[in-house]
Amino acid sequence: MHLLITAGPTHEPIDAVRYIGNRSSGKLGIAIAREATERGHHVTLLLGPVCDSPVDAERLRVMRFTTAHELEQLLRETWPRHDVLIMAAAVADYRPKAPAQTGRKIARSQDGLMLELETTADLVAAAAQTKRDDQIIIGFALEPADRMEAAAREKLVRKNLHAIVANSLATMDAATIDGIYIERNGNSLRSGLMEKPAFAAWLLDCISILDVNRVS
Ligand code: CTP
Repeated sequence: MHLLITAGPTHEPIDAVRYIGNRSSGKLGIAIAREATERGHHVTLLLGPVCDSPVDAERLRVMRFTTAHELEQLLRETWPRHDVLIMAAAVADYRPKAPAQTGRKIARSQDGLMLELETTADLVAAAAQTKRDDQIIIGFALEPADRMEAAAREKLVRKNLHAIVANSLATMDAATIDGIYIERNGNSLRSGLMEKPAFAAWLLDCISILDVNRVS
């Protein structure tokens, strides 16, 4: 299979040196990419601005992005060549509407600063809109623990995904994850608290069952 995996945060520039970002480390997406290549799959990893810098290896191609817009362009270019999209990236929902011109740094002022933000495109929903019948999309939903399952079920339908991984805010930048894998037919499975590499193997087992049963 050809897997397309996105991982890490996006950085949305405010000026030449500042950005709006989030604490995503990309660890889980990188672990999924490594596990998938070990299983013999061909993987393209679209990786955001994180410290870890995996490089191309046998069956692994790494492509880097910084902003949601760059990730959008990479997805448009690569998604048609893949069977499965695993959308683990923590994509910004908002970006500065008018970042300072290239090379400029906003100066300090006693008057404070207002930033106008605009909504970014929902990239996984766009990939679902353009997908072929033989392609599968797995999304993620990062939510407070008490409402993560309900919110993930709602996103699964709203974004038209095959399955979604509900995970709590504690997952971000952590070594472990306790996730719930939910399929479109309503079936779900909880992983329990695991190190991210172990979770990656658990998730790929879940997805291979989905592939065999191919929902919707
Ligand atoms: N996602 C995306 N494009 C965005 C925002 C999110 O493709 N602009 C994807 C994420 O990669 C993830 C899924 O949508 O697979 C859910 O992300 P999440 O942040 O939980 O939800 P949001 O869509 O941002 O919705 P909300 O902020 O209302 O929770």
